[in-house]
Amino acid sequence: MSETHPATISQPMPLPTGRGEVSGALVDALVREPGGATLPGGQSLREADPYGDDLQLALYVCYELHYQGFSGVADAWEWDPELLRVRQALERRFLDALRSDATTHDAPDAAVAELLVEPADGTGVSHFLRREGELWQMREYIAHRSLYQLKEADPHVWVLPRLRGQAKAAMAAVEYDEFGAGHGDRVHAELFAALMADLGLDPTYNHYLDATSARMLAVVNMMSLLGLHRALRGALVGHFATVEITSSPASDRLAQALRRLGAGEAAVFFYTEHVEADAVHEQVVRHGVIDDLLKREPGLAADVAFGVDATVFLEDRFAEEVLDTWRKGRSSLRVPL
Ligand SMILES: [Fe+2]
Ligand SMILES: [Fe+2]
Repeated sequence: MSETHPATISQPMPLPTGRGEVSGALVDALVREPGGATLPGGQSLREADPYGDDLQLALYVCYELHYQGFSGVADAWEWDPELLRVRQALERRFLDALRSDATTHDAPDAAVAELLVEPADGTGVSHFLRREGELWQMREYIAHRSLYQLKEADPHVWVLPRLRGQAKAAMAAVEYDEFGAGHGDRVHAELFAALMADLGLDPTYNHYLDATSARMLAVVNMMSLLGLHRALRGALVGHFATVEITSSPASDRLAQALRRLGAGEAAVFFYTEHVEADAVHEQVVRHGVIDDLLKREPGLAADVAFGVDATVFLEDRFAEEVLDTWRKGRSSLRVPL
């Protein structure tokens, strides 16, 4: 595992193709210098479907400026006040929709308790892939997830300056593991790039952005949204706990699926690594991060629960769509591989 995969060494990808009025106007503007371009506004912003392709892609593009950016886009766009105004309008629509559609628990304990119950006859994507998934379906799933996994743990770092004491120490300990515990070739995003290469997929960061559906973009946008806003620190922690709690059993199923499909060791390793690591991370996030944060800031309890609920809600929508298209014998990607 000493080889470095191209996920973090390649040039940023060019801007994606717009998927409607808002994202189309945004990508057109970003190839110009800030100040001299017309950004989307007015009715198209106010009326965009909060879960639709147009809004989700526009939001993803706005957020990407805080990560690796796009080739041909000036760095100065990241803090351009007009662009931030557009981003805020998109975020409000998305966050309002999530608050009203996803919220099911007031208390984090109840929200977390539901995650701890693993249904015997699971219906999620990892269950399907373990039981009967074919190689093309596994490759599609990995292409979708690359939008998330190639920035694995990045948006969660933004919460660190907003935490104190034990919560900060525990969060940093988990992030240290996610970032390879001092080893560049063990950074989880790099392990995912190796998995992609093993499956014959292009591990370039954001390579599958045009191919990925709005439902996957919404999952990634949620973590950027929660990470970038101090006011949403409780929800970010709830989201992170959900990822860690659900990861270990799902990773075990995906490792089994990859073995059954004849994938190489590098591919299987990403998931076997997560079976053990995330069983530990789960405990650290629940007891180290959440418990300590709520001791200090009990007023954040409802938001921690919201972070759990929003994650489950968006992941379920994504899984539903993928399984539904597969059942119909169709590709779940906008651009089939
Ligand atoms: Fe990880
Ligand atoms: Fe983890």
